[in-house]
Amino acid sequence: MVNLISKELNDLMNKQIVEELRSGYIYLGMSSWAANKGLQGLASFMKIHAEKEEYKHAMKFFKYIIETGGKVELGTIDQVTTDYNSVEEVLKGAIAHEEHISNKCKELMDLAQQKKEYYAYDMLNWFLQEQIEEENLFTQIYDDFLLSNKNIGVWDKHLKHP
Ligand SMILES: [Fe+2]
Ligand SMILES: [Fe+2]
Repeated sequence: MVNLISKELNDLMNKQIVEELRSGYIYLGMSSWAANKGLQGLASFMKIHAEKEEYKHAMKFFKYIIETGGKVELGTIDQVTTDYNSVEEVLKGAIAHEEHISNKCKELMDLAQQKKEYYAYDMLNWFLQEQIEEENLFTQIYDDFLLSNKNIGVWDKHLKHP
């Protein structure tokens, strides 16, 4: 077994697996709320994002830890809400959550640099670049919502996950 990861980075990456799975969980909660409101576009957007993006992110950390001889540990994913008051609250919540995840990615890179774990730089850089896309994606759909003058029906009909 190779030994190419420090205990500290391994621990933080295990926490990030939970963060990524919880991101998917949060978006599924938003999808559930949207489905109950008849907002099929938003419901599908959030569900696709959970499946296509967040699960993939978690698995990238999973694979990296294994490949570097670390140990994957799977922590608890806290309960998330399925209750929202408005589309605006959902969208602002998603943007704030992605900002939180961007900060987590920066903490991972900070630690990798501090410990001189050069192997991890490429993949953590990938995550930082990915966060530019993630923050843009959710900001874009919020901007579209504002541009539609908050016409929820029209906006929801045109909402498509890329
Ligand atoms: Fe993610
Ligand atoms: Fe994300």
